[in-house]
Amino acid sequence: MKTLFSGIKPSGDLHLGNYIGAISQWTALQEKYKCLFCVVDYHAITVKQDPKALRKSILDIARVYLAAGINPKKAIIFQQSDVSEHTELGWILNTITKVAELEKMTQYKDKARDEKKEGPGAGLLNYPTLMAADILLYHTDVVPVGHDQMQHLELTRLLTKRFNTNYGTTFTVPETIVRKEGARIMALDNPAKKMSKSSQSPNSYIALLDEPMVAHKKIKRAVTDSDNKIKYDPDKKAAISNLLAIYSALSNKSVKELEILYEDKSYGEFKEDLANLVANFLTEFQARYKKYSDKEVKKILNKGAKEAKAMAEKTMKLVKKNLGVN
Ligand code: AMP
Ligand code: TRP
Repeated sequence: MKTLFSGIKPSGDLHLGNYIGAISQWTALQEKYKCLFCVVDYHAITVKQDPKALRKSILDIARVYLAAGINPKKAIIFQQSDVSEHTELGWILNTITKVAELEKMTQYKDKARDEKKEGPGAGLLNYPTLMAADILLYHTDVVPVGHDQMQHLELTRLLTKRFNTNYGTTFTVPETIVRKEGARIMALDNPAKKMSKSSQSPNSYIALLDEPMVAHKKIKRAVTDSDNKIKYDPDKKAAISNLLAIYSALSNKSVKELEILYEDKSYGEFKEDLANLVANFLTEFQARYKKYSDKEVKKILNKGAKEAKAMAEKTMKLVKKNLGVN
Protein backbone atom coordinates (compact mmCIF):
# COMPACT_ATOMS: atom_id res chain seq x y z
CA MET A 1 0.00 0.00 0.00
CA LYS A 2 1.28 3.48 -0.84
CA THR A 3 1.76 6.07 1.90
CA LEU A 4 -0.11 9.37 2.30
CA PHE A 5 0.93 12.18 4.63
CA SER A 6 -0.69 15.53 5.38
CA GLY A 7 -0.99 17.99 8.23
CA ILE A 8 -2.51 21.19 9.52
CA LYS A 9 -1.13 23.78 11.93
CA PRO A 10 -2.88 24.19 15.27
CA SER A 11 -3.22 27.96 15.10
CA GLY A 12 -6.85 28.92 15.51
CA ASP A 13 -10.15 27.74 14.13
CA LEU A 14 -10.35 25.90 10.85
CA HIS A 15 -12.64 27.08 8.06
CA LEU A 16 -14.49 25.57 5.14
CA GLY A 17 -11.48 26.20 2.86
CA ASN A 18 -9.29 23.97 5.05
CA TYR A 19 -11.99 21.33 5.07
CA ILE A 20 -12.63 21.32 1.34
CA GLY A 21 -9.05 21.92 0.14
CA ALA A 22 -7.39 19.46 2.50
CA ILE A 23 -9.38 17.36 4.98
CA SER A 24 -12.24 16.25 2.72
CA GLN A 25 -9.64 14.78 0.35
CA TRP A 26 -8.07 12.87 3.22
CA THR A 27 -11.25 11.09 4.18
CA ALA A 28 -11.87 10.17 0.57
CA LEU A 29 -8.36 8.70 0.19
CA GLN A 30 -7.95 6.91 3.51
CA GLU A 31 -9.13 3.54 2.21
CA LYS A 32 -6.60 3.55 -0.63
CA TYR A 33 -3.43 4.54 1.27
CA LYS A 34 -1.57 3.97 4.48
CA CYS A 35 -2.29 7.39 5.99
CA LEU A 36 -0.57 9.66 8.48
CA PHE A 37 -2.39 12.82 9.55
CA CYS A 38 -0.27 15.11 11.63
CA VAL A 39 -1.05 18.07 13.88
CA VAL A 40 2.00 20.14 12.97
CA ASP A 41 2.56 22.07 16.20
CA TYR A 42 6.21 22.92 15.48
CA HIS A 43 4.99 24.68 12.33
CA ALA A 44 2.46 26.67 14.35
CA ILE A 45 5.16 28.19 16.59
CA THR A 46 6.85 29.90 13.63
CA VAL A 47 4.53 32.74 14.64
CA LYS A 48 3.97 33.61 18.30
CA GLN A 49 1.44 31.37 20.05
CA ASP A 50 -0.07 31.51 23.50
CA PRO A 51 0.92 28.20 25.22
CA LYS A 52 -2.51 27.66 26.75
CA ALA A 53 -4.32 28.31 23.48
CA LEU A 54 -1.83 26.13 21.58
CA ARG A 55 -2.37 23.19 23.93
CA LYS A 56 -6.12 23.43 23.34
CA SER A 57 -5.75 23.96 19.61
CA ILE A 58 -3.65 20.77 19.21
CA LEU A 59 -6.48 18.66 20.64
CA ASP A 60 -9.09 20.59 18.67
CA ILE A 61 -7.35 19.99 15.33
CA ALA A 62 -7.13 16.27 16.06
CA ARG A 63 -10.83 16.39 16.98
CA VAL A 64 -11.58 17.98 13.61
CA TYR A 65 -9.76 15.12 11.85
CA LEU A 66 -11.90 12.62 13.75
CA ALA A 67 -15.17 14.50 13.21
CA ALA A 68 -14.40 14.73 9.50
CA GLY A 69 -14.32 10.95 9.38
CA ILE A 70 -10.67 9.97 9.66
CA ASN A 71 -10.70 6.49 11.15
CA PRO A 72 -8.04 6.20 13.88
CA LYS A 73 -8.11 2.42 13.59
CA LYS A 74 -6.78 2.70 10.05
CA ALA A 75 -4.94 6.02 9.86
CA ILE A 76 -2.20 7.29 12.16
CA ILE A 77 -3.21 10.57 13.79
CA PHE A 78 -0.40 12.20 15.76
CA GLN A 79 1.26 15.34 17.03
CA GLN A 80 4.46 16.43 15.27
CA SER A 81 6.40 17.34 18.44
CA ASP A 82 5.86 13.81 19.80
CA VAL A 83 8.18 12.48 17.11
CA SER A 84 11.48 14.35 17.50
CA GLU A 85 12.81 12.88 14.25
CA HIS A 86 10.84 15.60 12.40
CA THR A 87 13.07 18.39 13.72
CA GLU A 88 16.16 16.22 13.42
CA LEU A 89 15.57 15.56 9.74
CA GLY A 90 14.46 19.18 9.29
CA TRP A 91 17.94 20.27 10.37
CA ILE A 92 19.62 17.89 7.98
CA LEU A 93 17.49 19.13 5.08
CA ASN A 94 18.41 22.73 5.96
CA THR A 95 21.99 21.85 5.16
CA ILE A 96 21.11 21.06 1.54
CA THR A 97 18.72 24.01 1.08
CA LYS A 98 19.70 27.41 -0.32
CA VAL A 99 18.57 30.50 1.56
CA ALA A 100 17.44 31.96 -1.79
CA GLU A 101 15.16 28.94 -2.35
CA LEU A 102 13.46 29.65 0.97
CA GLU A 103 13.22 33.40 0.39
CA LYS A 104 11.35 32.72 -2.85
CA MET A 105 8.40 31.02 -1.12
CA THR A 106 5.24 33.14 -1.39
CA GLN A 107 3.92 32.01 2.01
CA TYR A 108 7.19 33.22 3.56
CA LYS A 109 6.97 36.53 1.75
CA ASP A 110 3.35 37.03 2.88
CA LYS A 111 4.11 36.12 6.48
CA ALA A 112 7.30 38.19 6.52
CA ARG A 113 5.18 41.19 5.51
CA ASP A 114 2.97 40.58 8.58
CA GLU A 115 6.04 40.74 10.83
CA LYS A 116 7.07 44.13 9.52
CA LYS A 117 8.06 45.66 12.86
CA GLU A 118 10.60 43.15 14.10
CA GLY A 119 11.23 41.26 10.88
CA PRO A 120 10.43 37.58 10.17
CA GLY A 121 11.89 34.89 12.41
CA ALA A 122 14.32 32.26 11.14
CA GLY A 123 11.64 29.61 11.80
CA LEU A 124 9.36 31.21 9.23
CA LEU A 125 12.12 31.07 6.65
CA ASN A 126 12.98 27.44 7.43
CA TYR A 127 9.35 26.33 7.62
CA PRO A 128 9.48 24.47 4.25
CA THR A 129 12.45 22.29 5.25
CA LEU A 130 10.54 21.08 8.33
CA MET A 131 7.57 20.40 6.08
CA ALA A 132 9.80 18.42 3.72
CA ALA A 133 11.07 16.43 6.72
CA ASP A 134 7.48 15.62 7.78
CA ILE A 135 6.85 14.14 4.39
CA LEU A 136 10.17 12.36 3.76
CA LEU A 137 10.35 10.65 7.15
CA TYR A 138 7.57 8.29 6.13
CA HIS A 139 8.67 7.66 2.53
CA THR A 140 5.44 9.39 1.54
CA ASP A 141 4.06 8.78 -1.95
CA VAL A 142 1.24 11.35 -1.97
CA VAL A 143 0.46 14.59 -0.13
CA PRO A 144 -3.10 15.96 -0.44
CA VAL A 145 -3.14 19.72 0.26
CA GLY A 146 -4.78 22.95 -0.83
CA HIS A 147 -3.39 25.02 -3.69
CA ASP A 148 -1.34 27.33 -1.43
CA GLN A 149 0.96 24.45 -0.42
CA MET A 150 1.94 23.44 -3.95
CA GLN A 151 5.05 25.61 -3.98
CA HIS A 152 6.26 24.00 -0.72
CA LEU A 153 5.67 20.60 -2.24
CA GLU A 154 7.70 21.52 -5.32
CA LEU A 155 10.59 22.51 -3.05
CA THR A 156 10.18 19.23 -1.16
CA ARG A 157 10.51 17.33 -4.42
CA LEU A 158 13.61 19.30 -5.36
CA LEU A 159 15.24 18.65 -1.96
CA THR A 160 14.38 14.96 -2.17
CA LYS A 161 16.13 14.61 -5.49
CA ARG A 162 19.10 16.65 -4.27
CA PHE A 163 19.50 14.50 -1.16
CA ASN A 164 19.23 11.31 -3.18
CA THR A 165 21.86 12.60 -5.64
CA ASN A 166 24.25 13.73 -2.91
CA TYR A 167 23.92 10.79 -0.55
CA GLY A 168 22.44 7.90 -2.54
CA THR A 169 18.79 6.99 -2.93
CA THR A 170 17.22 7.43 0.49
CA PHE A 171 13.81 9.05 0.03
CA THR A 172 10.72 8.64 -2.13
CA VAL A 173 9.87 11.66 -4.30
CA PRO A 174 6.32 12.62 -3.21
CA GLU A 175 3.45 13.58 -5.50
CA THR A 176 1.07 16.44 -4.68
CA ILE A 177 -2.68 15.85 -4.78
CA VAL A 178 -4.96 18.88 -5.13
CA ARG A 179 -8.65 19.03 -5.89
CA LYS A 180 -9.65 20.00 -9.41
CA GLU A 181 -12.23 22.43 -8.05
CA GLY A 182 -11.95 23.58 -4.45
CA ALA A 183 -8.15 23.61 -4.09
CA ARG A 184 -8.49 27.32 -3.46
CA ILE A 185 -11.72 28.32 -1.77
CA MET A 186 -12.13 32.08 -1.98
CA ALA A 187 -13.46 34.64 0.51
CA LEU A 188 -17.26 34.91 0.41
CA ASP A 189 -17.15 38.70 0.36
CA ASN A 190 -14.28 38.98 -2.10
CA PRO A 191 -13.63 36.17 -4.60
CA ALA A 192 -10.27 37.70 -5.51
CA LYS A 193 -8.87 36.70 -2.09
CA LYS A 194 -8.58 33.20 -0.66
CA MET A 195 -10.71 32.21 2.31
CA SER A 196 -8.51 32.70 5.32
CA LYS A 197 -8.93 32.71 9.08
CA SER A 198 -6.70 35.76 9.35
CA SER A 199 -9.27 37.85 7.49
CA GLN A 200 -10.56 40.96 9.27
CA SER A 201 -14.14 40.29 8.20
CA PRO A 202 -15.90 37.24 9.71
CA ASN A 203 -18.35 37.34 6.80
CA SER A 204 -15.55 36.29 4.47
CA TYR A 205 -15.17 32.80 5.86
CA ILE A 206 -17.20 30.01 7.42
CA ALA A 207 -15.52 28.49 10.45
CA LEU A 208 -16.18 24.78 10.99
CA LEU A 209 -17.50 25.71 14.41
CA ASP A 210 -19.73 28.58 13.24
CA GLU A 211 -23.37 28.36 14.35
CA PRO A 212 -25.15 26.71 11.39
CA MET A 213 -27.64 29.62 11.18
CA VAL A 214 -24.79 32.13 11.10
CA ALA A 215 -23.16 30.18 8.27
CA HIS A 216 -26.52 30.13 6.47
CA LYS A 217 -26.61 33.94 6.58
CA LYS A 218 -23.02 34.22 5.39
CA ILE A 219 -23.81 32.18 2.28
CA LYS A 220 -26.94 34.21 1.59
CA ARG A 221 -24.83 37.37 1.84
CA ALA A 222 -21.99 36.05 -0.32
CA VAL A 223 -21.23 38.23 -3.33
CA THR A 224 -22.22 36.92 -6.78
CA ASP A 225 -21.33 37.97 -10.33
CA SER A 226 -23.19 40.45 -12.50
CA ASP A 227 -25.26 38.16 -14.76
CA ASN A 228 -27.62 35.53 -13.38
CA LYS A 229 -26.08 32.37 -14.87
CA ILE A 230 -24.89 29.51 -12.72
CA LYS A 231 -21.79 28.52 -14.67
CA TYR A 232 -18.32 27.45 -13.55
CA ASP A 233 -15.72 29.86 -14.93
CA PRO A 234 -13.18 30.92 -12.26
CA ASP A 235 -11.65 33.63 -14.49
CA LYS A 236 -14.82 35.40 -15.58
CA LYS A 237 -17.24 34.34 -12.83
CA ALA A 238 -15.08 33.96 -9.76
CA ALA A 239 -17.84 34.40 -7.17
CA ILE A 240 -20.34 31.85 -8.47
CA SER A 241 -17.53 29.44 -9.38
CA ASN A 242 -16.38 29.54 -5.77
CA LEU A 243 -19.89 28.80 -4.51
CA LEU A 244 -20.17 25.96 -7.05
CA ALA A 245 -16.88 24.48 -5.79
CA ILE A 246 -18.20 24.58 -2.21
CA TYR A 247 -21.53 23.06 -3.26
CA SER A 248 -19.81 20.30 -5.23
CA ALA A 249 -17.41 19.37 -2.42
CA LEU A 250 -20.13 19.15 0.21
CA SER A 251 -22.71 17.36 -1.94
CA ASN A 252 -20.48 15.01 -3.92
CA LYS A 253 -22.25 16.24 -7.05
CA SER A 254 -19.92 17.27 -9.84
CA VAL A 255 -19.83 20.91 -10.94
CA LYS A 256 -21.23 19.78 -14.30
CA GLU A 257 -24.23 18.11 -12.61
CA LEU A 258 -24.85 21.27 -10.61
CA GLU A 259 -24.73 23.49 -13.69
CA ILE A 260 -27.41 21.33 -15.28
CA LEU A 261 -29.49 21.20 -12.10
CA TYR A 262 -29.46 25.01 -11.80
CA GLU A 263 -29.60 25.86 -15.49
CA ASP A 264 -32.93 27.70 -15.23
CA LYS A 265 -32.65 28.78 -11.60
CA SER A 266 -31.71 32.13 -10.09
CA TYR A 267 -28.76 32.99 -7.85
CA GLY A 268 -31.28 33.38 -5.01
CA GLU A 269 -32.54 29.81 -5.32
CA PHE A 270 -29.02 28.46 -5.73
CA LYS A 271 -27.75 30.29 -2.66
CA GLU A 272 -30.73 29.19 -0.55
CA ASP A 273 -29.98 25.53 -1.39
CA LEU A 274 -26.27 25.98 -0.76
CA ALA A 275 -26.94 27.79 2.54
CA ASN A 276 -29.07 24.84 3.69
CA LEU A 277 -26.44 22.35 2.54
CA VAL A 278 -23.69 24.18 4.47
CA ALA A 279 -25.86 24.56 7.59
CA ASN A 280 -26.72 20.84 7.56
CA PHE A 281 -23.11 19.89 7.00
CA LEU A 282 -22.03 22.01 9.99
CA THR A 283 -24.79 20.63 12.23
CA GLU A 284 -23.71 17.07 11.54
CA PHE A 285 -20.01 17.86 11.70
CA GLN A 286 -20.34 19.66 15.04
CA ALA A 287 -22.40 16.83 16.55
CA ARG A 288 -19.55 14.43 15.75
CA TYR A 289 -16.95 16.95 16.94
CA LYS A 290 -18.57 17.21 20.37
CA LYS A 291 -18.55 13.45 20.83
CA TYR A 292 -14.76 13.19 21.26
CA SER A 293 -13.57 14.01 24.78
CA ASP A 294 -10.08 15.43 25.43
CA LYS A 295 -9.19 12.13 27.07
CA GLU A 296 -10.18 10.14 24.02
CA VAL A 297 -8.33 12.47 21.65
CA LYS A 298 -5.15 12.28 23.77
CA LYS A 299 -5.33 8.49 23.74
CA ILE A 300 -5.56 8.46 19.94
CA LEU A 301 -2.64 10.92 19.63
CA ASN A 302 -0.48 8.83 21.97
CA LYS A 303 -1.13 5.67 20.04
CA GLY A 304 -0.45 7.50 16.76
CA ALA A 305 2.83 8.92 18.08
CA LYS A 306 4.12 5.44 18.94
CA GLU A 307 3.34 4.12 15.47
CA ALA A 308 4.79 7.16 13.71
CA LYS A 309 7.90 7.13 15.90
CA ALA A 310 8.68 3.52 14.98
CA MET A 311 8.53 4.39 11.28
CA ALA A 312 10.53 7.61 11.71
CA GLU A 313 13.32 5.89 13.67
CA LYS A 314 13.79 3.41 10.88
CA THR A 315 14.11 6.17 8.29
CA MET A 316 16.58 8.12 10.45
CA LYS A 317 18.83 5.06 10.75
CA LEU A 318 19.09 4.94 6.98
CA VAL A 319 19.55 8.72 6.70
CA LYS A 320 22.40 8.73 9.24
CA LYS A 321 24.09 5.81 7.56
CA ASN A 322 23.89 7.44 4.14
CA LEU A 323 25.09 10.78 5.51
CA GLY A 324 28.11 9.13 7.09
CA VAL A 325 27.36 10.14 10.67
CA ASN A 326 27.05 6.58 11.87
P1 AMP B 1 -3.27 25.90 7.20
O1 AMP B 1 -4.44 26.35 7.98
O2 AMP B 1 -2.55 27.02 6.50
O3 AMP B 1 -2.37 24.98 8.00
O4 AMP B 1 -3.83 25.04 6.00
C1 AMP B 1 -4.22 23.70 6.15
C2 AMP B 1 -4.61 23.12 4.83
O5 AMP B 1 -5.76 23.79 4.30
C3 AMP B 1 -3.54 23.22 3.72
O6 AMP B 1 -3.53 22.02 2.96
C4 AMP B 1 -4.00 24.37 2.89
O7 AMP B 1 -3.55 24.30 1.56
C5 AMP B 1 -5.51 24.24 2.97
N1 AMP B 1 -6.19 25.53 2.77
C6 AMP B 1 -6.05 26.66 3.51
N2 AMP B 1 -6.83 27.66 3.04
C7 AMP B 1 -7.49 27.14 1.95
C8 AMP B 1 -8.45 27.67 1.04
N3 AMP B 1 -8.89 28.92 1.11
N4 AMP B 1 -8.91 26.84 0.06
C9 AMP B 1 -8.47 25.57 -0.04
N5 AMP B 1 -7.58 25.01 0.80
C10 AMP B 1 -7.08 25.78 1.79
N1 TRP C 1 2.55 23.86 5.65
C1 TRP C 1 1.23 23.29 5.71
C2 TRP C 1 0.20 24.45 5.82
O1 TRP C 1 0.53 25.55 6.14
C3 TRP C 1 1.09 22.35 6.87
C4 TRP C 1 2.04 21.21 6.78
C5 TRP C 1 3.16 21.03 7.52
C6 TRP C 1 1.95 20.10 5.89
N2 TRP C 1 3.78 19.87 7.18
C7 TRP C 1 3.08 19.28 6.18
C8 TRP C 1 1.06 19.74 4.90
C9 TRP C 1 3.33 18.10 5.46
C10 TRP C 1 1.32 18.56 4.18
C11 TRP C 1 2.44 17.76 4.46
O2 TRP C 1 -0.94 24.21 5.56
